[in-house]
Amino acid sequence: MCGIFGIVYKQDRLLGPTLIDAGLRLSYRGYDSVGIATILENGVIDLRKDAGKVKSVAEKYNFKEMIGQRAILQLRWATFGEPSLVNSQPHLDSEGLMVGAHNGNVVNNVELREEFISEGMTVRSMNDGESCVHAVERFTKKGFSMLEAIQKAYDVLKGDYAFVITKANDDKLYAFKKGSGLVAGIGDDFTCVSSDLPSILPLTRNVVFMNDGEIIELSADHYKIFSVSDGTPIERAVEIVEDTMEAAQKGGFEHFMLKEIHEQPKVAKELIHLMNNSSAVEVTIEALINARNIFFIGCGTSYNACVTGSVYFNRISGRTTIPVAATQFIAQYNRSIGPEDVGIFVSQSGETKDVLNAVEIAKQKGMKVYSLVNVVGSTLTKLSERWLPLACGYEISVPATKTFTNQLVAFLYLAYKMAKFDISDLEKIPGYMQSTIDDTKDQVLDVLPYLENWNDLYSLGYGVTFPIALEGALKLKEITYAHCEGMLSTEFKHGPLAAVTLDYPILFTTIEEDISLIISGINEVTCRGARAIVIGPEDNRLKSNAQHTITISQPTPEIASILSIVPLQLLSYYMSIQRGFDPDFPRNLSKTLTVD
Ligand code: G6P
Repeated sequence: MCGIFGIVYKQDRLLGPTLIDAGLRLSYRGYDSVGIATILENGVIDLRKDAGKVKSVAEKYNFKEMIGQRAILQLRWATFGEPSLVNSQPHLDSEGLMVGAHNGNVVNNVELREEFISEGMTVRSMNDGESCVHAVERFTKKGFSMLEAIQKAYDVLKGDYAFVITKANDDKLYAFKKGSGLVAGIGDDFTCVSSDLPSILPLTRNVVFMNDGEIIELSADHYKIFSVSDGTPIERAVEIVEDTMEAAQKGGFEHFMLKEIHEQPKVAKELIHLMNNSSAVEVTIEALINARNIFFIGCGTSYNACVTGSVYFNRISGRTTIPVAATQFIAQYNRSIGPEDVGIFVSQSGETKDVLNAVEIAKQKGMKVYSLVNVVGSTLTKLSERWLPLACGYEISVPATKTFTNQLVAFLYLAYKMAKFDISDLEKIPGYMQSTIDDTKDQVLDVLPYLENWNDLYSLGYGVTFPIALEGALKLKEITYAHCEGMLSTEFKHGPLAAVTLDYPILFTTIEEDISLIISGINEVTCRGARAIVIGPEDNRLKSNAQHTITISQPTPEIASILSIVPLQLLSYYMSIQRGFDPDFPRNLSKTLTVD
């Protein structure tokens, strides 16, 4: 999830300070590289970029002195290509006569790069943003106007993205939206465009929101919007935004956690597109098929994803895999692993010390190190033979949400591929996830009053929902500070049952096939006075046996398990608010633990 910003004035002027400021305002999204291209009235393009943070790259390349009539700024969050100068954006076309930058993922960029090279274009990087520029170049070279070329490039560029582009000998900027955010700002003597409102608001509060499939043409004193499908003009009035900067950064949500919960359908869709087009998937499957033992290794939320992934692999591909917390991997398997074994190391940050310690032992023993990681360019991606990006963009809130669901999607995808199943089922996940977010919120709020005075509760699951119950318990502990133990529902009777008193809250998570078993678990506790809250399918047996039910669609058992975490995330979030805590930054916790 990169950030883009473009601005157009009538004449050359000092743009550096405005661009640095826009970059700093986009930086809350997370990034690893930054670049600026200014375009002067005489058609000279001044491009300065590198891996690093806004302040250091700006200082090294003297951004503050950059002048131009137009400019494009980009903050890159790496997905395709390591963070480096050459992979940084903006990118030039072959002759250096056009410059552009994107936000999002062009998932067929690997094939496109080969096509562009064979057509004689100069391709300089491994980055998918460059594909946007060459896709437009392909058609401007044939004599099409910028607008026509962008329309045609749209048919070529697969994925979810937005890009901004301009020609040296022009005085306009063009931007296109498909799946990623894009908004334009209309000032008195300029226009601008960005992936995010916060970079626009200090300049103007007059904005134009763009929809998918629309191209905007920006001149200093006017804007025009066109449909990408047939080029017809679209009328769109300016709106005045009243939001504060902080509210704009949170996309209108109260907290980053809630925003990130709502981003889950979008990032799942992006990940599935990406995996459909990733050569790393085939290589990973090949390695897994040939492995003696397969280990899934992670910490915290990522460990819970490993346990879920292991259940998926058994159910879908009939393959045994060993999920293990990173520190225990060292303690339990250091002597028995070898070159025949494969480890998939899972980490949002790619920097968790416990995980990196386990990688070190695995490498010493010659084991194959693969990874699922959100931060491309992190230490884990550098130490891995192959890695698959989780493609979630920056996760700001300390409790992991969208990275967990994408870890599950990635594991399920790999299991499907290993079993040679048709993955079209998985393409329905984003839609189901969206309706789960929409449908469960009120059901969760109904339960909230019954949990208000409890600082001790259980979260139980079985089979594919066992690790979901673990993750639900972790979310609750992290942000409500209540003690919530996650465990196998069938184990509850072997001891914890003694804790049950009147109204004691117990969360059950189940899928269709486990209903009978869960009902006996429910009755074991309700006959002793407990309050059972069940997350599961629409089912009369659940309704008549439990005090509360939260209904989840059941497209397949595994997809239902992914959907089940959503109400547990929402419950944790609203309980945290109810208790007056800040769910984004809970006490004592850090997003990335780089210590033993
Ligand atoms: C910390 C965070 C957890 C996270 C864990 C693993 O403990 O507070 O939320 O799940 O690290 O992080 P990773 O970046 O390796 O997934």
